[in-house]
Amino acid sequence: MSELPVKGFAPEKARAKLTQLTYNMSKPKAREVIIEISHCGICYSDIHLIDNDWGISNYPFVPGHEIVGTVREIGSKVTNIKKGQRVGLGWFSKVCKTCTYCKSDRDNMCPSSEATCVGRNGGFADFVKADSEMVYPIPKEIKSEHAAPLMCGGWTVHGAFRGYKVKKGSRVAVLGIGGLGHLGLQFGKAMGFKMTAITSTKNKVKEAKSFGASNVITIDQINKFEKAFDFLLVTAHADLDWSQLLNTLDVDGNICFVGVPPSTVNVHVFSLLMKRLSISANPGGSRKMMKEMLRIAAKHKIKPKIETFTFNKVNDAIKKVKSNKIRYRAVLTY
Ligand SMILES: NC(=O)c1ccc[n+]([C@@H]2O[C@H](COP(=O)([O-])OP(=O)(O)OC[C@H]3O[C@@H](n4cnc5c(N)ncnc54)[C@H](OP(=O)(O)O)[C@@H]3O)[C@@H](O)[C@H]2O)c1
Ligand SMILES: [Zn+2]
Ligand SMILES: [Zn+2]
Repeated sequence: MSELPVKGFAPEKARAKLTQLTYNMSKPKAREVIIEISHCGICYSDIHLIDNDWGISNYPFVPGHEIVGTVREIGSKVTNIKKGQRVGLGWFSKVCKTCTYCKSDRDNMCPSSEATCVGRNGGFADFVKADSEMVYPIPKEIKSEHAAPLMCGGWTVHGAFRGYKVKKGSRVAVLGIGGLGHLGLQFGKAMGFKMTAITSTKNKVKEAKSFGASNVITIDQINKFEKAFDFLLVTAHADLDWSQLLNTLDVDGNICFVGVPPSTVNVHVFSLLMKRLSISANPGGSRKMMKEMLRIAAKHKIKPKIETFTFNKVNDAIKKVKSNKIRYRAVLTY
């Protein structure tokens, strides 16, 4: 195979609309695969990258890291994945596999990791290339459109619960019931936690219950809840009253950020000290956790609630994500 022509969608500069970008993809190296993409979820991290919120974006680039498709080409040394197999690819396209973190099931901390759509073109396109060991067969029970949001959203919420060793029976609250949040409720319930949803959107209350929350709180009522939770998973990407939210944690509780608010988080140490609280943040999960997450999703019939858009309607989808109108994950397809 010579170079493969690829069609993707990319912003030309920060906050710009995405326009079509064509580029050539070289043959896969010995341990790489090329996936023909059928579905790609839109994670809010794609929006942060498009808007250059984190100062790491180089334009133009193709966003997208919740990828599902079919393996079209494999490198000469690939043994774990076959041509024609249905697979998923998430945030990481490569890790070194040799560092201390890679060797201890913490490969999401690998200093040489490469992200699927940072410094390279990702999944809002017809093809993507990745290391074969970052590519995961999708269990037959899960449809491709539902598998896509699991590749980052599912992996991250499950990875936070596993990474912080949240125990069965714990009182877990999820703040922000969007793409990650609605999966957090489903995975948390499947993992045996007592789930509460905290939302700023009143009309999400009923659905939050259907995702597994035994209790739903609107954020304007949060001052009524003291020492109510052991683990508070923040998926919102907004500046909120963190000191007030610390009041909701019981002794030894943990407020764990997966969402990235724009400003620094200011809290007084005294409010942590009195209850021995932790403030933490979690980046995705390991490769092992990805496999475990997919097994849990298949076993417990975890199903993202999605709205599909054709790839050429990507800007409509992004607009709806940005206005918090998507219920609950936008997925691009053909
Ligand atoms: N750590 C990681 O590895 C990782 C992985 C993936 C994503 N992320 C980050 O996680 C965050 C969420 O991603 P997502 O794809 O789930 O986004 P999303 O679908 O937009 O969901 C975010 C939710 O946050 C809540 N929210 C938004 N604006 C708010 C405001 N002004 N005040 C209060 N709540 C607000 C909304 O829930 P309600 O309507 O219920 O209030 C919204 O649905 C992003 O910052 C993303 O970059 C991190
Ligand atoms: Zn490594
Ligand atoms: Zn993501």
